[in-house]
Amino acid sequence: MKALQITGYGDLKAHLAINEVEKPSVSEHQVLIEIYAASTNPIDYKIVEGALKQVIKLKFPAPIGFDVAGVVVAKGQSVTHLEIGDEIFSRVPSNAPGTFAEYIAIDSDVVIKKPANIDFAAAASIPLVGLTTVQCFDKARLKAGDKVLIHAGSGGVGTFAIQYAKAKGAYVYTTTSTKNVEWVKELGADRVIDYKTENYAAIAKDLDIVYDTLGGDYTLEAFKVIKKGGTVVSIAGDLDEFTAKDLGLNKLIRLLLALKRRKITRQAKAKTAHYYFVLMDPNASQLADIKTLIERQLIKPVIDKVYPLSNAVEALLHQKSGHAKGKIVIGMKA
Ligand SMILES: NC(=O)c1ccc[n+]([C@@H]2O[C@H](COP(=O)([O-])OP(=O)(O)OC[C@H]3O[C@@H](n4cnc5c(N)ncnc54)[C@H](OP(=O)(O)O)[C@@H]3O)[C@@H](O)[C@H]2O)c1
Repeated sequence: MKALQITGYGDLKAHLAINEVEKPSVSEHQVLIEIYAASTNPIDYKIVEGALKQVIKLKFPAPIGFDVAGVVVAKGQSVTHLEIGDEIFSRVPSNAPGTFAEYIAIDSDVVIKKPANIDFAAAASIPLVGLTTVQCFDKARLKAGDKVLIHAGSGGVGTFAIQYAKAKGAYVYTTTSTKNVEWVKELGADRVIDYKTENYAAIAKDLDIVYDTLGGDYTLEAFKVIKKGGTVVSIAGDLDEFTAKDLGLNKLIRLLLALKRRKITRQAKAKTAHYYFVLMDPNASQLADIKTLIERQLIKPVIDKVYPLSNAVEALLHQKSGHAKGKIVIGMKA
């Protein structure tokens, strides 16, 4: 079968190749999925470029891709909740990437039937960004009536997060640039802030939750707009101590991270606010809740472009541009 493989760390064009590899077979708890669509995420190009070397160690050639939608074509004898022919979607386990390929064999625990009302491309666009958002808002204890700021509302995470927070009854502020303002409004955000012409910190104030999808200065700035006792939950800023420990980072690295984070820690204390970094995990029960929201049409996937597998590198370069409008999909049969 054909699979995109990482051949070494560095530049995307030079270190990715579509190779002919052996079609996997299933073990007792696994399903073999014929992949109809996969979606890209920033983590994919970051892995190739070596930005996550400390935590994700690769043996080359290495597989790539975490989001999948497809059809079950074989299953191990212990798999009871799925049948051959089922149309599924999943965020595959971090130690088993490889969805930019024609087939993947993965643990059935993280695989569920896809929403019936969307196609494979749309289904593949959801798991990673959806689970990340659910886990972040769970951590921040989102409740109806909360005032929430979601940065980068036009991105893969943002387009899902706006709709999810609205479905949970929040008042949603979001940021994007001029060209995206009108269509992002249609996702339901109460106030879309044009970061090219407006200062978000002068508009979104006294917030219960900031969902920091940008990192850098935005993480620290979040404490200016959060109310006392509020929560800044980041997926792109500095690791918190809990996540650093969870990743198995040694004491010296954790100390360096604590030093790097010291302004955040100080600001959080001054505001009696919470700061969390969330590293998403595959989770079938949360994915089932997301599926229900999609079937109730409370969340609609937003797709920027579908690329064939043969143009997967182009898809990743598009993702790396930092200006995707929703999700980028790689279609094998979609
Ligand atoms: N920790 C985790 O488990 C986890 C999980 C998922 C994602 N992430 C991280 O979260 C980040 C976001 O992911 P994503 O998939 O949403 O990325 P993405 O789809 O590539 O985000 C692109 C969007 O960001 C917007 N944007 C860029 N600069 C902006 C700014 N200054 N203000 C507001 N919007 C801005 C762009 O809008 P314009 O074109 O209008 O600028 C574009 O629509 C990435 O760093 C990713 O690695 C982490």
